[in-house]
Amino acid sequence: MKQYFIITYGCQMNIHESEKVAGILTSLGYTEAKDQNDADVIVFNTCCIRKNAEDRADGNIGALKKLKKKKKDLIIAIGGCMTQQKDYAEYLHNKFPFVDIIFGTHNLENFKDLLLKKLSQKKSVIDIWEKEGPIVEGTPKTRTSYPNAWVNIMYGCNNFCTYCIVPYVRGRERSRKLVDIVNECKGLVADGYKEITLLGQNVNSYGKDLGVDFADLINEISKIEGKFRLRFMTNHPKDLSEKLVKALAESDKTCRSIHLPIQSGSTQILKAMNRRYTRDDYFDKVELVRKYMPDMAITTDIMVGFPNETEQDFLYTMDVVNRVGFAGAFTFVYSPREGTPAAKMEGQIPEEVSKERIMKLIDLQNSINKKQSQLYLNKTIEILCEGYDDKKDMYLGRDTYGRMAYFKGDNNYIGKFVNIKITKTGGISLVGQLVD
Ligand code: 5AD
Ligand code: SF4
Repeated sequence: MKQYFIITYGCQMNIHESEKVAGILTSLGYTEAKDQNDADVIVFNTCCIRKNAEDRADGNIGALKKLKKKKKDLIIAIGGCMTQQKDYAEYLHNKFPFVDIIFGTHNLENFKDLLLKKLSQKKSVIDIWEKEGPIVEGTPKTRTSYPNAWVNIMYGCNNFCTYCIVPYVRGRERSRKLVDIVNECKGLVADGYKEITLLGQNVNSYGKDLGVDFADLINEISKIEGKFRLRFMTNHPKDLSEKLVKALAESDKTCRSIHLPIQSGSTQILKAMNRRYTRDDYFDKVELVRKYMPDMAITTDIMVGFPNETEQDFLYTMDVVNRVGFAGAFTFVYSPREGTPAAKMEGQIPEEVSKERIMKLIDLQNSINKKQSQLYLNKTIEILCEGYDDKKDMYLGRDTYGRMAYFKGDNNYIGKFVNIKITKTGGISLVGQLVD
């Protein structure tokens, strides 16, 4: 039996797309290898959002040269966002001539053809489409995150935030048909999945090309019978509508958690980022969400060290974090990406300054996490058990607000909704005991 091994970098979209590559390989009779060294096909699904994501992939691909020497029939493939950058396929081919297949984000669904072509010829197969093609439905998927299932609702991005490489490597926005998404969700619920996470670079602009919107989609999916949780990401504050917020409030499937990336708390920096909202607009969106769902947990992405960010700009960011009280924040140091407008801007910030800022930001967010966690003490919450942590020897799951909690138990609880009473709160996560 031939085996595959997939190494995924980056976001949930990539994790899900690796499930499609796995599905294609499974349909060809491959099974998943436990160890990279046992694999007949190794696929790197890469990311280029920040330089460190690229560096990690680069190092790991380079390290495979030895294995390839030992194992002549091994097929090594690189796909994903990194390969889709301008002139990158050629660069990768020159740097790693032992790599057999290089493909991009727009032709992932064709991986079967690319693999079969490679198996029939000696030469490497390099196939990068410059532009996105029509949406392909029906690609097989080998899902890896039960009880959660990822569902792509749209591809691409039209926003061109000045720091971001995504629009260049993922193409323009295009939405899957509402009926296709709803049918996929129905199938997942019937198959026993307990959580569905809808994916798109900006789910708030879902359906613009089809004459429907994201609220319509939430309403339709919420009608599916059975107990399951509905999550989605990512949102763009400029496109978050009252209609959507109402739909979320009315649905008994959507979780009380929303990811609303702010990026910066300074209106000046937001303008330079081409985010198309001010800090006050962001506060208005937070207020809108809390008007309908006062308990809604809001999480965010924040960047420090964008070109020309002053100490005052940074203090504005700290102020927003303090005022909103995020339930969680992904924090990043700005990383210049070739081909984006921000990479060419004057006033790049020295690394030491960015590092100092991000440490302060992380400290602030940690203290907020701690305070919010303390409020859980002695409360009983419902969590969906999603896994087992071998190191802690405990099950883990999240509540509707996305807060992670651990507990001990004698049965297999994965995929079950359980109630636990919180006995310990630390940083962001909680520890509890099962209650009947
Ligand atoms: N540098 C640092 N962080 C970035 N992000 C996107 N582009 C960059 C970049 N060039 C962050 C944003 C986005 C998250 C997915 O990654 O915060 O929301
Ligand atoms: Fe990048 Fe902005 Fe599009 Fe998000 S909305 S993917 S940050 S360009």
